[in-house]
Amino acid sequence: MVDVRRHFLDLIRQDGVRLAPELAAAFEAVPREVFVPEGFHRRDGGWVAPADPEFLPTVYRNDVLVTKMNGDVPVSSSSQPSLMAIMLEALDVRPGMRVLEIGAGTGYNAALLATLGAEVTSVDVQEDVAARARSALARAGITGVRVAAGDGYRGDPDSRYDRIIVTVGVAGLSPHWFEQLTPDGLVIAPVEHAGHHPVLSARPGGPMTAAVVCSSGFMSATGPLGARHAGSHPPSAGELAELTEAAPARWSPPLKTTGYRDLWFAAGAWHGRVTLATLPGHLVLLDRDRTGGAVVLPDGSILAGGVEAERYTADAVTLIDRWWRLGRPSMRSWRIDLALDGDPAAPIWVPRGFTIERRET
Ligand SMILES: C[S@@+](CC[C@H](N)C(=O)[O-])C[C@H]1O[C@@H](n2cnc3c(N)ncnc32)[C@H](O)[C@@H]1O
Repeated sequence: MVDVRRHFLDLIRQDGVRLAPELAAAFEAVPREVFVPEGFHRRDGGWVAPADPEFLPTVYRNDVLVTKMNGDVPVSSSSQPSLMAIMLEALDVRPGMRVLEIGAGTGYNAALLATLGAEVTSVDVQEDVAARARSALARAGITGVRVAAGDGYRGDPDSRYDRIIVTVGVAGLSPHWFEQLTPDGLVIAPVEHAGHHPVLSARPGGPMTAAVVCSSGFMSATGPLGARHAGSHPPSAGELAELTEAAPARWSPPLKTTGYRDLWFAAGAWHGRVTLATLPGHLVLLDRDRTGGAVVLPDGSILAGGVEAERYTADAVTLIDRWWRLGRPSMRSWRIDLALDGDPAAPIWVPRGFTIERRET
């Protein structure tokens, strides 16, 4: 088992993640399989049960393990370990800190936090999920984690925290979290932007701004945390109408994943119709019928279709040129100004203004 988990650390590192010794030790110490005792869905949808020979090897891949579906939609999972590692590094947890996690899921991330020495409260909106996380933590012998069932929008009203980590995709940040943070506290949360959930970091006090930690794709939160707002991009689109090449490739080799995500982030900052086309899985400027528009591929070529194809192709060319002229800013170059929006009865801090602040490429 020690070898399996050492290999697991290598897989996490292969994704370009720098693991501090304490975090590496936590990944090595916590048995991920205990947090998926009934099994999980593979990416292809098939179910992997604990008795299957592929169970342990799959648990220790650097991949998401979906543990609960609602029809075709995943509603709970253990997130991708390399993403968890990046978020935990950004959280800057030190022993003795009080950490609030929104989205207990399997309880695995809470177990890592507790192993890093934090005192953890983890909230999940689904009671059965919270109950299973509690049992898994007990079976793994993890102490120092309290799991509560409830909507994470409210946070944990009677307590104060040094850190808040959100492990579900949100449309914005709850004002309650900022009230519950200590003055030098920090929130790390994946916040919807152009069909993805870039992970943002924000602090209480001062102007309400956020910085980008990394890109990610999470399942979306229920309740006020998932509310649409004035700046929401269109939801991801399914299959688009027939697309034909509207502009040729401009980059050979094509942009790598990080560069493509950087372009995507910038395009979303500058254009309200940018989102994810699930088929073919790329950046799209989606038309108002939601069946066509302009898809930008990693080599810079554009495929377009539908009645507004020309208009969206022109917009896509403008976005690509602008990003290129600015020196291909990384998503970490941006400062995001936040504004209160969403459900008026339960508002959230959503991205409103985007400014390139640092020259990171
Ligand atoms: C990706 S999973 C969390 C992964 C988890 N941290 C782990 O280590 O397994 C997302 C979880 O967020 C929960 N969730 C969705 N909306 C929520 C909300 N409004 N408040 C709290 N939890 C929520 C879901 O029930 C789901 O279990």
